[in-house]
Amino acid sequence: MTSYALVSGADRGLGLALVKALLDKGYHVFAGQYGETAEALEALDELSGGRLRRIRLDIGDGGSVQEAAREVAGTTDRLDLLINNAAILGNITATIQDDLDFEGMEEVYRINTLGSLRLSNAFIEPILRSETKLIVNISSEAGSIGNCKRTSWYGYCMSKAALNMQSQLIDNQILPQGGRVLVLHPGHVQTYMQGKLDASGRLTPAVSAALIIGMIEQRLADGETDKPLALKDTEGKVWSW
Ligand SMILES: NC(=O)c1ccc[n+]([C@@H]2O[C@H](COP(=O)([O-])OP(=O)(O)OC[C@H]3O[C@@H](n4cnc5c(N)ncnc54)[C@H](OP(=O)(O)O)[C@@H]3O)[C@@H](O)[C@H]2O)c1
Repeated sequence: MTSYALVSGADRGLGLALVKALLDKGYHVFAGQYGETAEALEALDELSGGRLRRIRLDIGDGGSVQEAAREVAGTTDRLDLLINNAAILGNITATIQDDLDFEGMEEVYRINTLGSLRLSNAFIEPILRSETKLIVNISSEAGSIGNCKRTSWYGYCMSKAALNMQSQLIDNQILPQGGRVLVLHPGHVQTYMQGKLDASGRLTPAVSAALIIGMIEQRLADGETDKPLALKDTEGKVWSW
């Protein structure tokens, strides 16, 4: 049976690598394209044998999310896997003793926290109609309150902590219906979050994506329905909330 996945923020970075990895696993993938052009995604599209569908998707915009949901519904009435990957970083230097950029922080929240929720909300029925019923929220160690040593990164850290809470709320609702959420920290990855390639990342996007797919497969194989939801990294280490 055909398995359908949707990945947000697939233009580049980890999202693009996740799309590639899912295609390699045989999925039909809806790739959320944020930018006007996404050359790497377009090139992948040509090699996908029709299994990749690029959809324009701004998760910060309710209209864009609804349009994406309509587009997906034109192909399938079920979605096996939703990966909420798209996020932005915002200001990472200002401390409580600086002028904080509140508008910038609202934007980070609108995308990282509410954008993921918007997408899960729009696709929850197709997800629950699928066999696997899985939502993967790409969070971050930066959202862990228990491990927090930073003095800045306000918007990003708070948005990811809120995403963690959101994940638990969704999990509470869908677990009795056979659904599940994974909340993952993808590691320090060589991507473009800081506006340019961060070559200091320990993992390439391809390696991080492969580890994430491994965790998804493990989750689908063993069920783990008796274990509480946790923020895990790609090595399986649990981070405190
Ligand atoms: N890289 C790391 O070390 C690291 C560590 C922990 C967690 N993460 C998480 O990993 C995920 C992927 O990030 P990444 O590292 O791959 O960063 P990235 O290279 O910046 O990729 C993020 C993607 O999201 C897109 N995007 C931005 N705003 C969007 C919107 N409103 N709607 C839809 N898509 C949007 C970006 O498009 P544009 O490029 O056109 O803006 C880009 O394609 C994020 O959730 C991030 O928080 C990353």
